[in-house]
Amino acid sequence: MNHIEDRINHLLGQMTLEEKIGQLNQPMIHGLPGLDLLRQGQAGSIINAFGALSGQGFDHLSSAEQCNALQKAALESRLGIPLLFGRDIIHGQRTVFPIPLAQAASFNPTLIETVNRIAAREASAVGIRWTFAPMLDIARDARWGRIAEGYGEDPYLTSRMAEAAVRGFQGDDVSQPDRLVACAKHYVGYGAAEGGRDYEQAEISEPTLRDVYLPPFRAAVAAGVGTVMSAFLDLNGIPVTANRRLLTDVLRGEWGFDGFVVSDWESVGELVQHGVAEDQAHAAALALRAGVDMDMVSGAYQTTLAENLHQGRITHAEIDEAVRRILRIKFRAGIFERPFTDPERAQRDILTHDARAFARQAARETMVLLKNEHHLLPLRDFRRILVAGPFAHATAELFGTWTMDGRAEDVTPLDRAFQEVAPAGVELWFAAAPDLALSRAHYADVVVLLVGEHPARSGENANVSDLGLPPGQLEWITAMAAIGKPIVLVVFAGRPLAITRAVAQAQAVIYAWHPGIEGAAALAEILFGLAAPSGRLPVSMPRTTGQAPLYYNRKSSGRPLLDDGPFRTRYIDTPTAPLFPFGYGLTYTRFTYSDLRLSSSRMRDTLEVSALITNVGEWIGTEVVQLYVRDLVGSLTRPVRELKGFQRITLPPGATQRVTFTLCEADLAFTRADGSWGTEAGRYKVWIAPHSESGLEGEFEL
Ligand code: BGC
Repeated sequence: MNHIEDRINHLLGQMTLEEKIGQLNQPMIHGLPGLDLLRQGQAGSIINAFGALSGQGFDHLSSAEQCNALQKAALESRLGIPLLFGRDIIHGQRTVFPIPLAQAASFNPTLIETVNRIAAREASAVGIRWTFAPMLDIARDARWGRIAEGYGEDPYLTSRMAEAAVRGFQGDDVSQPDRLVACAKHYVGYGAAEGGRDYEQAEISEPTLRDVYLPPFRAAVAAGVGTVMSAFLDLNGIPVTANRRLLTDVLRGEWGFDGFVVSDWESVGELVQHGVAEDQAHAAALALRAGVDMDMVSGAYQTTLAENLHQGRITHAEIDEAVRRILRIKFRAGIFERPFTDPERAQRDILTHDARAFARQAARETMVLLKNEHHLLPLRDFRRILVAGPFAHATAELFGTWTMDGRAEDVTPLDRAFQEVAPAGVELWFAAAPDLALSRAHYADVVVLLVGEHPARSGENANVSDLGLPPGQLEWITAMAAIGKPIVLVVFAGRPLAITRAVAQAQAVIYAWHPGIEGAAALAEILFGLAAPSGRLPVSMPRTTGQAPLYYNRKSSGRPLLDDGPFRTRYIDTPTAPLFPFGYGLTYTRFTYSDLRLSSSRMRDTLEVSALITNVGEWIGTEVVQLYVRDLVGSLTRPVRELKGFQRITLPPGATQRVTFTLCEADLAFTRADGSWGTEAGRYKVWIAPHSESGLEGEFEL
């Protein structure tokens, strides 16, 4: 038995029932009844949040001094077990990075790792040692507001980002004081909420659950994630917070997870509203037995577990096991050795020059160029540029959802950032009001129109029934287009919006997401050609709201999309294909793909697939080369394409590189008709492609 397990047993042996239950309880800092609760050992963790909707606001309450004061009280308890302070550090703490969905557009796991390493350093400097991130919910329906918080629609991409995020937060050694324990959330299926309505139920078949929704969590567990959060939702009739099969059999039994599970906010108590528990006591018993170790905020564990035990609804062993898991993570996090945070660190570690510089790089790598007619971008030879639209003077509007620690005053306002980056001799006019913009447009050479969603329009429970631009913006674009000046449309958003008509009226379009603290400067650099865009869509862009749910890795159906004829799957009022497919994105140069080669026409254990990528344009550029496969015949129907690899390469003009992927047999495994997981012999298609709807196609056999 290793050292930590010895220490856990030793401690557990001394704990009273009350102290044990205390470890399973996570109150919120704002409702905290007082330090006595901590002195009595009645909390295992504190969530530093001001309420259930913390994600939608600013609140700078976390400080080393405050955490230290609470920690001091906890250490005065009989056994002196330290608290683990948790807070949602979703895309940076004070240095706000692009939203996670934007980060996914980088197709660059190293970027995700660095972002979260910086976030961990900053958050730990104010006493936080546990973040409720990364969010690994696959989202196929952009109406769902929380699509902003995850890595998009694809299980492979999300899995790679999951590993990178866990590495970034936890590092090799999570006991280092500048690291955070990560939390893979929301386990599982939460992104499949019906109608895109947050908290709604989802029905997901077992193969889809196993092949689409679970893999990112499995990847996070394999990467050593310390904690997992049980989702709010009712999945296939069982709220996940009460689902023993998922929380125990799959997570711990099949995957070997040995950290702890925290409920989502009040999701233990909410088992009553779901209608699977009579009362709080029943809810607590169901959740504990299912495998939820810590109760976030509902208080059901603290108030009812002792009684549950006396009634025989739960066992001592079940309580001990939950305590054991929580203590294990506390020991791993090193908080017994270093319970306090050095208050000087905040000065040193927060909002450093390097952090800001990386935030700018991240923003550059995440913006997606969707259209660029006649090389309108980068802007050259224009003297008078009108920068118009609701975001013309944006500061904190660039942050996106979940930025409790962000501060508007840290952001270089968009107008100033543009002025700093624009070449000498360029005259910039700014207009946030439509009338002013329209009158100015007549005298401008080009118009940069900044539209999109306010951060409050995405994130938790910020769902929309209409994926179009917010009211008035399309009218604004149309009025502007009528003037006849070239338009560069920039869209800030927490989700892929249906911008079909807006795109048609602009000559160039950049999808900038919510790009964070340095987003304005990064955008200006891209517009003026100091940097080239290199993001690719991690989600399919819809043409209309009615296309939702929309994702590239769908099934063929018996009447496939690509066949001609009236009786194929379709809408009669719009094409079925997305406006821009998953993986799509342009840059200032062009790449060609040629000479696809397979190391063999038959895969034994592995197969090498390669192609030549050439930069045929005039700019140095970055291409995200993507590998897709299709299993042509299966015991269950198989997706028309699945991403199995990607590589970001940068080439100077005229250069060619052979890009090689190694496919393994395990990459082709799936949940088969008999429920087992593995491969099936047969024919496969393979593509090396710039996005999910094109590419060089080959075939092999397994
Ligand atoms: C959200 C979680 C979050 C938690 C704590 C909940 O409302 O669903 O994602 O981690 O609050 O703030």
